[in-house]
Amino acid sequence: MHVPFNLATELDTALKTAASAAGLDAAAFVPEVRTADPRFGDYQANGVLAYAKREKQNPRALAEKLLAALPADITARCDAAIAGPGFINFTLKPAALLAWTRAFADADALAAGAASALSGQTWVVDYSSPNTAKQMHVGHLRSAVIGEAICRLLAFSGARVIRDNHLGDWGTQFGKLIYGYKRWADPTALRREPIEELERLYKLGNEATPDGSPALEEARQELVKLQSGDPESLALWKTFSEVSQRAFDEIYARLGIRFDHYLGESFYNDKLEPVLRELTGLKIAGESQGALVVFHPEHPRFKTQPFIVRKTDGASNYATTDLATMLYRVEHFKADGIAIVTDFRQADHFEQLALTTQKWFAATGRPMPKFEHVTFGAVTDEAGKALKTRDGGTIKLKDLLDEAEQRELAIVRDKNAGRPESERFTEEECRAIARTAGIAAVQYADLSQNRSSNYVFSWDKMLALDGNTAPYLLYAVARIRSIFRKAGISPTDTNLAAAATAPETPAEIAVARKLVKFADAVRLATDTLRPHFLCLYLYELAGDYSAFNNADKVLVDDAPVRARRLLLCARTLLVLETGLHLLGLRTLERM
Ligand code: ARG
Repeated sequence: MHVPFNLATELDTALKTAASAAGLDAAAFVPEVRTADPRFGDYQANGVLAYAKREKQNPRALAEKLLAALPADITARCDAAIAGPGFINFTLKPAALLAWTRAFADADALAAGAASALSGQTWVVDYSSPNTAKQMHVGHLRSAVIGEAICRLLAFSGARVIRDNHLGDWGTQFGKLIYGYKRWADPTALRREPIEELERLYKLGNEATPDGSPALEEARQELVKLQSGDPESLALWKTFSEVSQRAFDEIYARLGIRFDHYLGESFYNDKLEPVLRELTGLKIAGESQGALVVFHPEHPRFKTQPFIVRKTDGASNYATTDLATMLYRVEHFKADGIAIVTDFRQADHFEQLALTTQKWFAATGRPMPKFEHVTFGAVTDEAGKALKTRDGGTIKLKDLLDEAEQRELAIVRDKNAGRPESERFTEEECRAIARTAGIAAVQYADLSQNRSSNYVFSWDKMLALDGNTAPYLLYAVARIRSIFRKAGISPTDTNLAAAATAPETPAEIAVARKLVKFADAVRLATDTLRPHFLCLYLYELAGDYSAFNNADKVLVDDAPVRARRLLLCARTLLVLETGLHLLGLRTLERM
């Protein structure tokens, strides 16, 4: 029997086939299959109503016709029933649930099942993208964590994903930094804590150059020198970039992130003029009060709010760079899709960028890729204020990750002390667990909320062993692994599937039905670029699993029962781990 990964898609196709067979206008019939409330079934098709209304037919009678025409491989797998005014509910039969658990035996099988959705597409994901010569702070966490999850989701659905870190490495800040560096640089500090020293120098440079001061003019001259390629300035800039890169790399390693490219703003420096020439030539951009701008007359705000692509002083800016970046990603990477992950405050910029690019590419015969500005809300404390250190400073990301590990270590040690001596972890093991679980807690807390909301940062909530948290899910994974250690068999043992029969008890069936829904959760999270849908699914799966564990003993003597329950454990483990890895988390064998 062919076992589809995504049953909703399969049912959709089957209903279309049934519609043709039953003499309906199949082209006009949209089945609208979605996951159903489990009390009524696994999937529900809602499309009969709209079709019946348009054709002025009785929806229930239409639904009857469709059911009668359903292909045999669907009726072999699902019970189908008509409900309400003409919904069709599908419930998977236990044999179909068993077939799914047999077919999807490892991460590769799951990936192969999911891969058809975006195969052949290339996506460039632009995330993290911090500004150089500064440390990353808590605000940089979201873009990195959400962006990485999105990359993994897209790749899982078969896309070729290019991870591009669009570093802010060419801004006006360098004039002030070089000004500060030339006057106050401390060689010892530069050796010991280079990024901190650069931050100090920038701060000094900034304070020493108030608006209208001769010092500001000097700082500007430093920037002009750098931008016109003065070797000494370039050498300094290069040092700043390298120092920053090392600091960023440390953070990325801790978060498990690796970029394919670091094509920062400086990379586009020599690609800006041709863009401005094209836009001017096409009359998409025009002069306004000394600047070069783009208006969008069809847009309520952007008909008067300009997209400035060259400033009055003749300098290019963030917008110019992003236009050149769009072009490069389409021409060089052949991107079908581009996703840029930043906070919501840049929404106008990217909307104007997309509108401008559409017109520009349409006029020049270039393909317009799908464009997604993936926005997110602010990180706040529990009172709803921007998250700060106790003395009101910004929280460095490095310190935040350290604190996560420290706090988790205290929890792990505490729990460890309550274990029987023979099962206790060594101090070294406690530390390793805390490193993984602490970072995972921070990542998951961010991912599990709808990214459009502000994100309330709470140590207690994210480190809790109960609730929709990383420790809860990592613990579920570790517990399943311990069952297999006790049983003396590996969760990937292929004999398991062969020996198992179809799920029988209500708790077994509930877990199996939830497992099958993994495909829907992945698809929803990927289509909307919202990882929290996958988090919620994993949390619910862990809940169903734990109910099953409480209701039905796994390691019973009855061999067939034991085999079928162990198979459910193995697949729950597989789906939980695959899901957590898709989110960018690391998992543990023991916890
Ligand atoms: N460096 C920017 C910032 O820190 C984010 C860049 C996002 N990417 C882009 N192509 N503009 O806000």
